This record gives sequence, structure tokens and C-alpha cells, in this order.
Amino acid sequence: MKKIITLAACFIAGILSYAQNDIASKAKALLAKMTLQEKIGQLNLIIPGGAAVTGSVVSNDVENKIRQGKVGGLFGITSPEKIRKVQDMAVKESRLHIPLIFGLDVIHGHKTIFPIPLGLSASWDMGLIEQSAHIAAKEATADGLNWAFSPMVDIARDPRWGRISEGSGEDPYLGGEIAKAMVRGYQGKDMTKQDALMACVKHFALYGGAEAGREYNTVDMSRIKMYEYYLPPYKAAVDAGAGSIMSSFNEIDGVPATGNKWLLTDLLRKEWGFKGFVVSDYTSLNEMTNHGVGDLQTVAAQALKAGLDMDMVGEGFLTTIEKSLKEGRVTVADIDRACLRILEAKYKLGLFDNPYKSIDETRPAKDILTAENRAAARKIAAHSMVLLKNQNQLLPLKKSGTIALVGPLADNKRNMLGTWVVAGDWNKSVSVLEGVKNVAPGINVLTAKGANITDDHFFASRANALGEEVTFDSRTPQAMIDEAVSVAAKSDVVVAVVGEAADMSGESASRADISLPESQLNLLKALKRTGKPLVVVLINGRPLTLVWENNNADAMLEAWAPGTEAGNAIADVLFGVYNPSGKLSATFPRSVGQIPIYYNHKNTGRPFDGKGFPKFKSNYLDESNDPLYPFGYGLSYTNFEYSPVMLSNASPKGDTKITATVTVTNDGKYAGEEVVQLYITDPVASVTRAVKDLKGFQKIALQPGESKEVSFTIGTEQLSFFNSDLKKVWEPGKFIVHIGTSSSNVKSAELNWSR
Ligand code: BGC
Repeated sequence: MKKIITLAACFIAGILSYAQNDIASKAKALLAKMTLQEKIGQLNLIIPGGAAVTGSVVSNDVENKIRQGKVGGLFGITSPEKIRKVQDMAVKESRLHIPLIFGLDVIHGHKTIFPIPLGLSASWDMGLIEQSAHIAAKEATADGLNWAFSPMVDIARDPRWGRISEGSGEDPYLGGEIAKAMVRGYQGKDMTKQDALMACVKHFALYGGAEAGREYNTVDMSRIKMYEYYLPPYKAAVDAGAGSIMSSFNEIDGVPATGNKWLLTDLLRKEWGFKGFVVSDYTSLNEMTNHGVGDLQTVAAQALKAGLDMDMVGEGFLTTIEKSLKEGRVTVADIDRACLRILEAKYKLGLFDNPYKSIDETRPAKDILTAENRAAARKIAAHSMVLLKNQNQLLPLKKSGTIALVGPLADNKRNMLGTWVVAGDWNKSVSVLEGVKNVAPGINVLTAKGANITDDHFFASRANALGEEVTFDSRTPQAMIDEAVSVAAKSDVVVAVVGEAADMSGESASRADISLPESQLNLLKALKRTGKPLVVVLINGRPLTLVWENNNADAMLEAWAPGTEAGNAIADVLFGVYNPSGKLSATFPRSVGQIPIYYNHKNTGRPFDGKGFPKFKSNYLDESNDPLYPFGYGLSYTNFEYSPVMLSNASPKGDTKITATVTVTNDGKYAGEEVVQLYITDPVASVTRAVKDLKGFQKIALQPGESKEVSFTIGTEQLSFFNSDLKKVWEPGKFIVHIGTSSSNVKSAELNWSR
């Protein structure tokens, strides 16, 4: 049997490498026919540019460039009709008929919008995450596209950074698993298929390490920290076969990523064996001049030599590379290398065989925003929600009686989709009010806005840069609160839907204060004073500081920005149609002063054990070291009991494998799902290690009273780490295996692993 499998694997590998060689030789043959200008043209990625006047689909300027072979790809246009017209220009009117690649920021769905990626990651459900990417691919290709600027896999330990919402949180292992699932979901097994979208892993690299959480800020990081904590998700996506990668805005070791040879060639190509192409981020090539490393011609030459293949928007390559070639700053080989990679990507997508392969005017009606896609979005959103608190089992709510549904996000469609929704239409989203009425039609719902998202006009104007997400009621804040309080007084329970507007997180949306805006906190305080049971539903794109809320709400549900089916999914969870199973993928701090805060921190030489108030320990005078909610945390309507950890062998030797097993029992009243998490501690090593690292997880479903054994295989791979020489090694000795329900609630067992 083993032999047959091996033979089959060799056969498949053979076919793949044959296909790869075939593509490479076709691309070379085409390259041989190209002029220098045509080659440089392939490196140029642009947007439609300006208003489409005189019937042009994109701007006249762009259309002429396409005909002249000065454009390799376009992003920012959708619909098969438009894309067909533009593809016609390239294929029918340019000299060599080279098809364009069409990209878009398809980040968490195309038109059926799924939860923001931070929310998706909280599902810890790789099947559902892959499904969300596959549906996005189906919809985006139905809209004529073939390239998605996703997944964004940047590790983030700083919730001030707005783009924490676009990633999978703080953990490299979870982030890596999600990166793979997303690439599989977009690309499928064969990128020539009509519904396959090429993935673009971003932002390479370390973008989430921006100092002080301030957008586009400097990153300065040790190599060990990079290799151990920040690089693994990019590597996982590369290993999964991602077709392209996007360089980041930040610098690394003093060199902007877009022109960083160590990053784009030594690490990405030589160490990791990446075979796709690298595109810059939006004008990140031009911005190297602001970083202070030279004028446009200098930085363009540097970036090309460093391994950048495609230049997004700024046309630095288009306008300077020919000159640099004449002056000997770049070689023809540099240009050919980049051009070949882009041609190869187009071959991989099957665009030379059929440049119109995903352009079918009948597809949008069949494939976009279908009932099936919406049902999946509803399910996935419910699975991403995290129950933060549930005192006296207030949730799930009964489907009878009267509820006060209040807060600025309760009857709101505008902010349900979250950040980075280019093609999605918020008018098509389900508000919480609509969802509650759908799921619990027998209930009496009283509503009141209660507060503006914020009363701070300065903050609101910045958050509204992309559209009017924060609106101001004509009433005074007090009048709004009074109405909410009077509604609450007539109800059995209060559900307050509060949080952030969609673009209070996302790109260029860093916040120095990550608490709930004052207007909404005042509302919650007034509601609390009514004495009615208070459920807080949070719509937001990042961990927030919620100390008052945690102390005073009876129940709290983190719903993130749930997407198109927001209200239905929230109501499913509130009324127990779905028992929440999400777990945080990023730590929630108690206060901004604790940031960066993450579970896999080091022990330090003077660790604080959390007891008493000792001097000369690693702690604060005025704040606890503990987070408000740790990584991996999330409650359920039921209760899961963990047995002690059983090891198949507590003193293994050499390169063997053991199993660590727990029995998990659902001893509550509801059926539920639990994410069983495996962490390992390496207490003594040649370099300092984190207090624990996630090494595995399994999501299981249990009926009330049911028990399941959950086993994890542990080998030396799970013990290994990057040493001072950046070699991945494992060192013998003691290890502690933890299995539990969150990073801070585990059962542990010790083992001794010798050589
Ligand atoms: C963002 C990228 C995005 C690109 C194209 C940039 O500002 O950083 O994530 O893919 O714009 O829209």
C-alpha cells in the first residue's frame, strides 16, 4: 500500500514539475519575442485611473498604455462586461496579445461578506475558513477577476494597529494554519479552473510589528523573533503554493521591504524556494524615497535587483528602468527575471489558453450573493463569535417576553461588514434588529439608538474618511440615553449593541485609545443603573480595553464585524440556535499601557508570579500583568471538563513520536463545540523560550453528557525552535505539555525527551 502511495506521489510530483517546466519554457519563448518596453510593461500594475470619460472603461490614458503593452495587470475594476472590454484591448490590440491579470482586494469575501479576518480566525475552524475563501474565489471570478490581494497573514501583538483586524492575530502556528487554508480556498488544486483565484500573501514582511501600533511605522526586530514568531505564516502560505506575495510598506533592518534583497531573494527565494512573483504594495516602491534611500530611479533599480517583480500603481519601473539599464544600474537579466515570473503566473492561471476564462456574463446572477453563499456566511459568522462573559447563564435568551435592543449598532447596516470591503454592499447586510426579528419572531422588541458611535467630531471625521459610518443624531446625548433607559425599563432584558464603526479599524486606522467611545460607555452606565440584565454585543475590529464592561455587563458577546449576515448570525448565537465556540486569536489587554501584550511572552530574569506586590519584579505599579482576556479564551453555553493529560511515553528518545491525550466531557446542558488547545513549554534551552507556544488544536463537537478522547501527536518538530544561528533545532531535556480550553486554563504533564 505504502509503495502504491509513494508511486502515486512521485507520479503527481512528476506531472507538476513537467507542468512547471512546460510553463517556464513557454514563458521563455514568449519573452524572446518581447521588446524591452514590453518586458517593462509587464511589471506595471495600475488602477483604472480617473473618471471613465467618452465611453472608455478605464481612463483613456490607461487604455492607451494597455494597447501599447505598458501594463501587466490592472486592479480596481469589476464585472465581466468591463473586464472583457479591457482584456480585449490587451489581447486583441496589443502587439503580442498578452492577457492582463485582474486583481482586487478580496479580503473577507467578495460580495457575500464574511467576518473580518480577525473574526474568522477566532473560529479556529480551518474547514470554514477555507470555505469562506473558496466562496470568495467563486464570486470574484464570476465578477471577472483572477487575483486576490489576500491572505493578509501579518502577526500583530498590538491592537492599536488598525490592521490587526485584517489578520489572524498573534500566534504563528494558528496564523500559519489559516494562511494555508486561505490559499487552498482561493487557488484550489488547479489555478487554471474557472473559479480559481490566485492568492497574494501580504504584507511581506513584519508589517504588523509597526512601532507603537502606528500605521506604516518603523519595524525593528531581532532575527530570532522574526523567524520564531513573525515569519511562519508567510512561509506556510508559500509552502501551500501561494502564487504571489506582496511586499510591505515598512523597513526591515533599515531597508524598506520593497527593496530588501535579504527579504525578497535570500529568504523568500533561496531559503524558502518561492516560485511565484512579488508585487509591491500600493506605491511602496515610490515611498522608498520618503524612507530616505534614494530618488525614484535609484530605488526602482534597487527594488528590481532585490527581487521585486511588479510595481503597484507608482510606475517607478515603467518610468525609470530603461534609463537604469542604459546607465548599467540594472541588467537585462534583472528585467527578464521579473518579466518571466509574471508571464509564468499568467500561464499558471491558464490565461494564455483562455484570457476570458472567468469572464462569463451569466455567472454573477448564478454565483454571487446566492442563498447558499449567504447561508455559509451566516454559519461562519456565528462560528467566529466569542462569548466573553455569561454570568448566571443569562444567555441564551428566551424567544419570548420583551427585549430592549439598544445602541448605535443595533439598527445599523452600514457598519456590519467591517473594514476592507471593496465590492460588498452594506445595504445588503442584515442588521441586528432584523436578525432578532427573523430568529425570534415571537419576541417583543423595543429599540432605541441610545448614543452616537462617538460624539467626538474630530475622531468621527477621520473614521468617516471612506464614507459616512458615524452619523450624528439631532438629539442631545442625554435625550438619546433617556429614551434607551425608558425602553430598558419596559423590558425583561437589555441587549446593547456597541463598538466601533467599520473603518475605526483597518488600514490607516490606528487608535491610541482602544476603549469603547465615551458616548457608548455613558449609555452602558445608564443602562446598568436600570438594574435590568445587561447583554453587551460588541461589533469591532480589534481587541478593546473593556474593564468596566467586563465588570458590569451580565453577558458579553464579541461579534467582530460579522459581514453580510451579521444580524442573523448574532441572533442565532443570542437565542442559542448556535452555541458559541469562538476563541480569541489576540489577547485583550486591560489597558493600553500593557501593549504589546501576548500570551507567548518570555519569562524574563525577574518574572512576576502575579501574587502580592513585590518590588524588583517584572510588573507595573498601577496595572496587573494579566490581560483582560487571554489568547485562546472563549466561553460556551455549556461546560467542558478536561481530564488530566496522559502521555503515551514520558521519557521518549530521539526522533520518535508520542501522543498526549485528554478526555473532554460536556457536562452542561447544551450541545457545543470546543477548541482543544495544545501548548508546549521548553523550560531550559540554549536561547530563551516563551512561557508556552501553541503547537496544535482540534475543534470537537460534544452532545450534553458526551465525552471524547482528544489526542495530539508530538514529535521533535513540536519541540524545535530557532537557535542563535537561526537553525531550527530541538534540544533534549524537560518539556511541559499543556492541553486546555485557553492559553491560561490548561492541564499539564511533564516529559523528558533525550537524544
Ligand atoms: C494595502 C494593501 C492593498 C493595496 C491595494 C494598500 O494600501 O496596504 O493591503 O492590497 O493597498 O489596494
